[in-house]
Amino acid sequence: MQALFGVMVTKCISAVASMDVADALKDGPLYYTDLAAVVGADQRALHRVMRMLVSVGIFDEPTPGSFGLNELSDLLRSDVHGSLRDMAVMITSESHWVPWGELENILRTGDSGPQHAFGKDLFSWFQDQSNREQWEIFNAAMTSFSGAVAKAAVEAYDFSRFNRIIDVGGGHGYFLRSLLNEAPEANGVLFDLPGVIESAIKFDRMEPVDGDFFLYVPDGGDCYTLKNILHDWDDEKCVQLLKNIANAMKPSARVLVIESVMPDSAEPHPAKFMDVNMLAMTEGGCERTLNEYSVLLDKAGLRLKEVYPTPGAVSIIEAGRN
Ligand SMILES: C[S@@+](CC[C@H](N)C(=O)[O-])C[C@H]1O[C@@H](n2cnc3c(N)ncnc32)[C@H](O)[C@@H]1O
Repeated sequence: MQALFGVMVTKCISAVASMDVADALKDGPLYYTDLAAVVGADQRALHRVMRMLVSVGIFDEPTPGSFGLNELSDLLRSDVHGSLRDMAVMITSESHWVPWGELENILRTGDSGPQHAFGKDLFSWFQDQSNREQWEIFNAAMTSFSGAVAKAAVEAYDFSRFNRIIDVGGGHGYFLRSLLNEAPEANGVLFDLPGVIESAIKFDRMEPVDGDFFLYVPDGGDCYTLKNILHDWDDEKCVQLLKNIANAMKPSARVLVIESVMPDSAEPHPAKFMDVNMLAMTEGGCERTLNEYSVLLDKAGLRLKEVYPTPGAVSIIEAGRN
């Protein structure tokens, strides 16, 4: 039953995250009537949702009816390092909740949730003007997720040797800015779709460039990073993108694929969850084993050189020209 009720836990976490309940509690616990007044909630409804979230360890209830933060709900604050607030909002926002509702159809046909729900792929749907807010929620979630991953990546890999780092599909630029902070001599290029680049963060050594990575990528980089990009696409698209990078990069450049690598065994691993999310949300995207990444790189004229595990769920797969 706990597994079946999991969906309710997720939806309740997501709802209180969108209402900024954790931010309202950052100075200490509040009685639910006061909390409801601060976040603009119905008192009884909020009490019932919070009571359930306390029962699964997400919030504390130090005295009856009074709710406070703990280690987990602290991550729902918007102002803490590694905040998962925006990720929590996105996970049941329209862009994900509606396509996930199509899972049976996805299982039957192999087509993605956005195709069933919206008649198009996710990134095309985001580009419709009426879905602008959903796109912003998605971009903020990617940035939120990058907080922890960026820290883990710079601990695991030395970025200071590069001069020109190009983050392909770099979103709002949080990850690239973290890398540039570790590489004081380097300049960066943030490359993504026009609608993403226009709301990206600004940083003096980071040049924003918009475009379609299936057509080209900026040239002359000695490091190309692809964080959570290849898992969005099928093999054919990945090879196309990797070939564009292989053609644009300096001969000695490194391509760094930053993804959760699927283990070959039955052990529990976050990649297995992310993989089903890719099944639901993308056109043929998936999490891959190391061997599968190696095959993709080979097909694009690149060679897997080294794998750097990080303290987080992702690994850095380093590749270069043959
Ligand atoms: C899963 S997000 C990852 C974002 C970022 N790398 C991160 O990890 O936070 C995928 C990114 O690829 C970008 N993207 C999708 N299709 C693209 C295309 N054809 N050309 C350039 N960027 C694209 C999206 O806008 C989005 O920012």
